[in-house]
Amino acid sequence: MKRWMAILTLAFGALLALVALGAAQPVLAQDGHGSESGDAGLAALRGAAVYAEFCQACHGPQGEALGTGEAFAAIDAAALAGDGARLAILEGAGSAESGAAMPPYGKVLSEAQIADLLAYIGTWATGETPALPEPNIGHVQERVEGFAGDPVAGAAVYARFCAGCHGMSGAGRDAPAFPKLEGEPVQMVRVAREGHENPTMPAFSAEQGGPLSDDQLANLEAYLATWADHETSQEQDDGRGYSLLIVVAGVIAILLIGVTYMARLVVKEEA
Ligand code: HEC
Ligand code: HEC
Repeated sequence: MKRWMAILTLAFGALLALVALGAAQPVLAQDGHGSESGDAGLAALRGAAVYAEFCQACHGPQGEALGTGEAFAAIDAAALAGDGARLAILEGAGSAESGAAMPPYGKVLSEAQIADLLAYIGTWATGETPALPEPNIGHVQERVEGFAGDPVAGAAVYARFCAGCHGMSGAGRDAPAFPKLEGEPVQMVRVAREGHENPTMPAFSAEQGGPLSDDQLANLEAYLATWADHETSQEQDDGRGYSLLIVVAGVIAILLIGVTYMARLVVKEEA
């Protein structure tokens, strides 16, 4: 009797795992080698989502140069040796003198997220680097009159270049390094274009050494204009961003462990 229960549970578990794997197909496809890469592969996959949200704005998808400005320079492979990367993430790097500073992430990222990040960064040297996930930008309001750019394209620019510090909805994370966003769209984009006197907020426009073209800045402005038009959309983060992917990866890991455990039980009872 017990054995039948175990077999039923096992079958149900396997079914759930299949469904979860189906849901995660796009994520695993980005990874290229799926679950066979095991724990390290999953950590790197979760780390790719953290990196996409917090780091690629300045360092590019794989630590390459994104622009000519100091803040967008490539990460030197030597800086990744030893504890260098971990310390830079916890405490920040760069300086006011160089005109470019990386914020300290010690209060914004958990230990587990930092471990995942390091697993992702570690893949740069192996050539087994998972692709960064695309952000889930949620529903974008209609274009606001007077702004010529494309707000949907602007939402993608915001998610990739601004959300890491200012949050997906502009609410900020942990001031002063991760402040709330306020003001008129035109004035906000001026700061994005030219930078802030605080060296943690670099100039993002291509003409000032950053990664963003005039078109991208116009799209960003059209997107920010939709905030001013619908104040309420700024009130909460409704599951937008990169974190959904982390949840999917976690669910698969738990299901796989569960199914393995049940399979062991069945084998034991049969013996
Ligand atoms: C504002 C842009 C910005 C963001 C966002 C940013 N960094 Fe940096 N990062 C910098 C600057 C500037 C330096 C210093 C470069 C230098 O001094 O040569 C740096 C240095 C580093 C270094 C090298 C440390 C060293 O000792 O030289 C690593 C590793 C690094 N960053 C990782 C990250 C990770 C991981 C994230 C995301 C959690 C991140 N950075 C987010 C700007 C940024
Ligand atoms: C690495 C973190 C970081 C990133 C990425 C970043 N910012 Fe900032 N931002 C800051 C900091 C820090 C300040 C200055 C806070 C201070 O000292 O008052 C700031 C200030 C601003 C301000 C001025 C706020 C005010 O009230 O004065 C605007 C507007 C702004 N950022 C827009 C953007 C936009 C748009 C993007 C994306 C293109 C962006 N930021 C990306 C960290 C960042």
